[in-house]
Amino acid sequence: MDKIVIEGGKPLYGDVRISGAKNAALPVMASALLTEGTNTFHNIPDLVDIKTIKKLLINMGVQIDGDETCRINADKITHCDAPYDLVKTMRASILVLGPLVARMGVARVSLPGGCAIGARPVNLHLKALEDMGAHVELNSGYIEARAKKLKGADIYFDLQTVTGTENIMMAATLAHGTTVLNNAAREPEVVNLAEVLKGMGAKISGAGTDVITITGVTSLKPAEASIIPDRIEAGTFMIAAGMTRGEINIIGCNPQHLESLINKLRDTGMKITPIKNGLKVSAGKKITSVDVKTLPYPGFPTDLQAQIMAYMAIGGGLSVISETVFENRFMHVSELLRMGADIVIQGGNAIVRGVPKLHGAQTMATDLRASASLVLAALVAEGTTEISRVYHIDRGYETIEKKFSALGADIKRVK
Ligand code: UD1
Repeated sequence: MDKIVIEGGKPLYGDVRISGAKNAALPVMASALLTEGTNTFHNIPDLVDIKTIKKLLINMGVQIDGDETCRINADKITHCDAPYDLVKTMRASILVLGPLVARMGVARVSLPGGCAIGARPVNLHLKALEDMGAHVELNSGYIEARAKKLKGADIYFDLQTVTGTENIMMAATLAHGTTVLNNAAREPEVVNLAEVLKGMGAKISGAGTDVITITGVTSLKPAEASIIPDRIEAGTFMIAAGMTRGEINIIGCNPQHLESLINKLRDTGMKITPIKNGLKVSAGKKITSVDVKTLPYPGFPTDLQAQIMAYMAIGGGLSVISETVFENRFMHVSELLRMGADIVIQGGNAIVRGVPKLHGAQTMATDLRASASLVLAALVAEGTTEISRVYHIDRGYETIEKKFSALGADIKRVK
């Protein structure tokens, strides 16, 4: 199994190009199930999760061709199934549920199990489908959903759920009548999906707000669309600039999607200025510790919580990091402690006392974003850090070692 080995202490300088967003590409690729004909999607990142959704679609009889530009044809769907073996490696596989029920009237999708960051149920997806008239049963670990024709409904999500909003928005495009999603997620990835669906002929308004209205149509046509830049990848490199005392041009990002992070990083003393095609991000003279609370968009993203914690681990004072989206998303803390960080967890809060130096250690990636925080910590640690189980990082970061190495980091992947 691959390891990443990093010799810390090099300030990072230069340009990094941001890839397409994993969390936008996955629902957009699933949306191809809604149409006949060939959909063409550009700016698809080269990630393990993308390979997983391709396998899932191919397993259903869908034809797929191409990588960065990916053509997907779902004229013939031979199996309306998402098997456990694939779903267990990627929870976002649940995104095929809504489109399959809407177009085929039936779906059998393995229940995603728990994962490293919490229980992560899908009850809100299922309740919304039932509200739309689907008959949903749980059998031997599988969700079995059926509906001759979904009906428009007034849905209220108890919690803002990103993939829940996406799943039900897709399902509603082919339902009979109008569906209103209340307390919908406002993430840019939801907006990207809505734009793609509109390109297919769907009638959707309000995406990007917490009320989304979808009026069903009888059929959709294939679309051509681009995936938005990955704001979490961009954020990770921005934090790297501050931590390593460097200056990085984040090329191809969308600054509007990064406002909560930009404000927070400026409070730590970093300088962030718009440039053509992105942002110039430089370290400040010292690192001022700040408090952070994760929230649904436009709040501070939970997917950057581990990375900002690595940054605060070398801050000048005390920082309280509150995780409010997932109940158990502090798996990176024990690894950061092994690198010399001073962090105490109290319920959903991590109290981080900045230390002057981290030191290299053997560490283990526990989930996707946790592994990114270990890479960041290793980039500033004294000595060598080895990060094992890097398959987690390959799920969501495209050639991370190449991108950091081009910025001057001493980082390599060993088999
Ligand atoms: C998506 C992102 C993930 C990100 C998360 C929160 C994708 C593919 N993944 O995950 O990277 O960390 O949003 O920004 O886009 N919940 C329920 N019942 C449900 C659904 C959710 O209780 O049916 C809870 C979850 O346990 C969690 C909260 O709602 O506490 C938000 O989760 P959700 O937005 O659904 O996360 P995902 O869509 O799985």
